[in-house]
Amino acid sequence: MARAAQSKRRKTSTHESFLRHRGFLFLKVSTILCIGVVLAYVFQDAHPRPSGGTALGYALGTLGALLIVWLGLLGLRKRAITDGPYSLKAWVSAHVYLGLSLIVIATLHTGFHFGWNVHTLAYGLMLLVIASGAVGVWFYATLPKALSDNRGETTRKQMLAQIHALDEQIHEAAQPLARVDADIVRLSLEKTDIGGGFWRRLFGYYGDCANLRAIDQLEPALADAKGREAVALRKVEELMRRKADALALARRQIHITALLEAWLFVHVPSTFALLAALTAHIVSVFLYW
Ligand code: HEM
Ligand code: HEM
Repeated sequence: MARAAQSKRRKTSTHESFLRHRGFLFLKVSTILCIGVVLAYVFQDAHPRPSGGTALGYALGTLGALLIVWLGLLGLRKRAITDGPYSLKAWVSAHVYLGLSLIVIATLHTGFHFGWNVHTLAYGLMLLVIASGAVGVWFYATLPKALSDNRGETTRKQMLAQIHALDEQIHEAAQPLARVDADIVRLSLEKTDIGGGFWRRLFGYYGDCANLRAIDQLEPALADAKGREAVALRKVEELMRRKADALALARRQIHITALLEAWLFVHVPSTFALLAALTAHIVSVFLYW
């Protein structure tokens, strides 16, 4: 009994995803909300036709705007560490499901009227924020969990230390080499970029890696080398191959971390753009009332 309770607690504490939080509580809340909104829309008595300007239109618009402001506050909530029923996990769970319900709420608010105006701009930005949020959830769900939390930092430090140690060994092993061969080693030691710029980290492309180029150049050098030179070159080659494996591992981790961060570069700025367009929308409808 006690063990069952303990294992349940363990399950709900760390490993339960925010998507399943409290038995999909916020999915249920959101579904009920959407059903209520659809029923209100279907049974309304709108004159001349359903739009943002009817009583229900105003109600849905206000609900949508309040939801958007609340969803935007997650940025502040993320930075305040607290526990209990209003834990960050509960917030994120509510954020995801109520955020998705906006598709129904805002679309029915518009009465399906769209045009080239600031109102539809607000609507389009809202869809962009929601779509980027969905991408983020997909990343969190599919990318290895260990890399998205603090343990990722520790492994990253260990990986960098390992590459550094291999560099030292390569440097050591290269001491007896002739000048031309030493230049190949220098290519690996001095020109290898572990992470690289934003796009490189995002796409995980490292086909032109200096260490790989150095390994390629070692092949013909090894074919010509004799005696001590050949022994040293073989040692260097083995170390460079180990370095290539270590680099591949570190870069995979860097790539995944970049993916986990990249969607936020869309989600957060488009949230600000949405808030600005929404303000313009609300002010303009009241000005032209
Ligand atoms: C306090 C909140 C809101 C109020 C008071 C409000 C008010 C209105 C009004 C009065 C209209 C009708 C305008 C007309 O028929 O000319 C309208 C239309 C519209 N609203 Fe809102 N709205 C609110 C929130 C939102 C939100 C959250 C969105 C989406 C992000 C949105 C997107 C639209 C769109 C796309 C239209 C249709 C524009 C068109 O006919 O071309 N509104 N809104
Ligand atoms: C108009 C609706 C939405 C707005 C305004 C909004 C806004 C925000 C903001 C401001 C943050 C905090 C980002 C930060 O400071 O790091 C955030 C985080 C997040 N949002 Fe949204 N969001 C919306 C809808 C959605 C939707 C529909 C989803 C999922 C389908 C979603 C998924 C997420 C996730 C997963 C996070 C990160 C939570 C974490 O880091 O633990 N968002 N959102």
